[in-house]
Amino acid sequence: MEGPLPTWGILTVMERPDLANLYRQAETDRLGFWAEQANRLYWHEPFTQTLDWTQAPVARWFADGKINACFNALDRHVLAGNGERVALLFEGEPGDTKSFTYADLLTETKRAANALLALGIRSGDRVALYMPMIPETVIAILACARIGAVHSVVFGGFSADSLRTRIDDAQAKLVITSDGGYRKGKAHPLKDAVDHALSAGNCPSIENVLVVKRTGMDVAWNEKDTWWTDALSTADTEHVAEGFDAEHPLFILYTSGTTGKPKGILHTTGGYLTGVSYTHRTVFDLKPESDVYWCTADVGWITGHSYVVYGPLANGATQVIYEGTPDIPTFERWWQIIEKYKVSIFYTAPTAIRTFMKIGKEIVSGKDLSSLRILGSVGEPINPEAWLWYHEVIGNSRCEIVDTWWQTETGSIMISPIPFAFKTKPGSTQRPLPGINTSIVDEDGTPVVQTDSGSAAGYLTIDEPWPSMLRGIWGDPERFIETYWSRFPGKYLAGDGARYDRDGDIWLLGRIDDVINVSGHRLSTAEIESALVEHHWVAEAAVVGAKDEVTEQAIVAFVILRQDEIADAPDEETIGKILRTWVTEKIGAIARPRQIMVVTELPKTRSGKIMRRLLRDVAEGRPIGDVTTLADSSVMTAINDKLSAGAND
Ligand code: WTA
Repeated sequence: MEGPLPTWGILTVMERPDLANLYRQAETDRLGFWAEQANRLYWHEPFTQTLDWTQAPVARWFADGKINACFNALDRHVLAGNGERVALLFEGEPGDTKSFTYADLLTETKRAANALLALGIRSGDRVALYMPMIPETVIAILACARIGAVHSVVFGGFSADSLRTRIDDAQAKLVITSDGGYRKGKAHPLKDAVDHALSAGNCPSIENVLVVKRTGMDVAWNEKDTWWTDALSTADTEHVAEGFDAEHPLFILYTSGTTGKPKGILHTTGGYLTGVSYTHRTVFDLKPESDVYWCTADVGWITGHSYVVYGPLANGATQVIYEGTPDIPTFERWWQIIEKYKVSIFYTAPTAIRTFMKIGKEIVSGKDLSSLRILGSVGEPINPEAWLWYHEVIGNSRCEIVDTWWQTETGSIMISPIPFAFKTKPGSTQRPLPGINTSIVDEDGTPVVQTDSGSAAGYLTIDEPWPSMLRGIWGDPERFIETYWSRFPGKYLAGDGARYDRDGDIWLLGRIDDVINVSGHRLSTAEIESALVEHHWVAEAAVVGAKDEVTEQAIVAFVILRQDEIADAPDEETIGKILRTWVTEKIGAIARPRQIMVVTELPKTRSGKIMRRLLRDVAEGRPIGDVTTLADSSVMTAINDKLSAGAND
């Protein structure tokens, strides 16, 4: 293909002319480029229009085409003669294993689709999933997609309360769960939380509960419950997948935003599948015939949706899924799995890498990791030390590392190096992928440019619509516009700060809003604050993310107690403990504060806004910054005095 290279060039592009073409084509004919990516999928009816942006910021991609996401993930490979290729290599935490070929997975999914139909689920109905990392979870997701039902997966670590609000928000008709799952060497209950969520007549939209037997633990049995095996054993193994409109909703996934209530991010079918299959193929340099791929994300997060379920399966990959945590029975577990299955592409989060770093490189000693060729990172900025450790210890200094930046909202990877095309740099995500246009803008929305000193920093935005972009927030169109499109009209506001270095490579600087990142999990300060004030002792709460060596950020909460309630309250240490457990019960263990500090005042501006910056200084043990905008500057002195008196939890 003729035409100039993108102005910033690609370092070793001469060795990969195919990639040079990809960048060039995306620059010269963006929509043509995306249409070509979409056409690598199977369309029940082809599309003629690539993008309709007339209802911006709600995009319509490939809108007159018809497509089935499950057909693309399964049937297509079987029909192409690849039915005997292994799709899933399941490794359970207790060591049990199971593998599914594409043909096996298709048969099971057809059965599950028929079971859902028999329970009255129809196209457009919402189905909540509350599951461990087991093959049935993938099957259940694909079965929903197959019949056009909209899945809403709720991470198994969330509490019954969190599950209830998500079920209610989506008005789900069915919950699919399991008796329990294995975690940290023990069976932990899941159905129990579903029972809680549905108790006392709550979640009236739920008509049925399907229960997978995973652990065999005792469960209470209710009128709405059906065992998964019973529902599937009587279901027909034939099911013909129909094509749905490209803009048919595929799933809702709740994520944290700046305000208390989680947002139901909506993704639709054709564009999402185009985005995840294109990026999975390109960023991981996937060779489906020979690679063994493993992404360690739980399916409860977007990474599990895009890079465990839809991306890899749409591309016909063979992948490992693992139920447990990296430390059970020992920190050698993951490396044993890589050795056992000869994993060649591995995708994980920096928090895991930092944990391993702390344990030391002995965890891989004696393991044959020579099958690895690509290592991916996602979820939070990867610090250069962790990047180098990943490169040297896990990758034996010979694997390509891709640090991939994206979000629940973007659906698929937006910024990342492409293997063998870049001279990678520890800690930088480098460039937007072909087809993606980003900028970094200042307060006024003016793009900052790279300078010789490389100091230009600002807000990261995405400037053109992309196929896998969110189509909205479930049930809240105004919040969609307000959150992402109002700050810089016409540009998508990612919520991350970023800067260019002198080569024009992008470095992510973390969130610019009140979202905190704990081990790659997104939590909103407001969500935790509102859980805290629900406790009768708490009058006011302020939560900040304090730097943490392993988890990137840790939650530190400052609370003011209610004078009328604390007469019978125990000492501060016990209060701290009780409130931390309270938050775990309200939201889930991932939201448990590391520390709770009881204070008598919170630092506020004259307009009443809590100055988290100052609280962060306290939480991180730094000298307190500028207090001149505080309504009452003695507040910080009081907090500091209390701290130095050692009164914290
Ligand atoms: C952060 C996860 C730096 C970022 C896929 C973003 C990252 C939020 C990276 C989205 C990365 C994700 N470098 N920061 N490579 N990847 N983030 O929705 O702050 O759970 O806005 O999606 O994670 O988190 P989410």
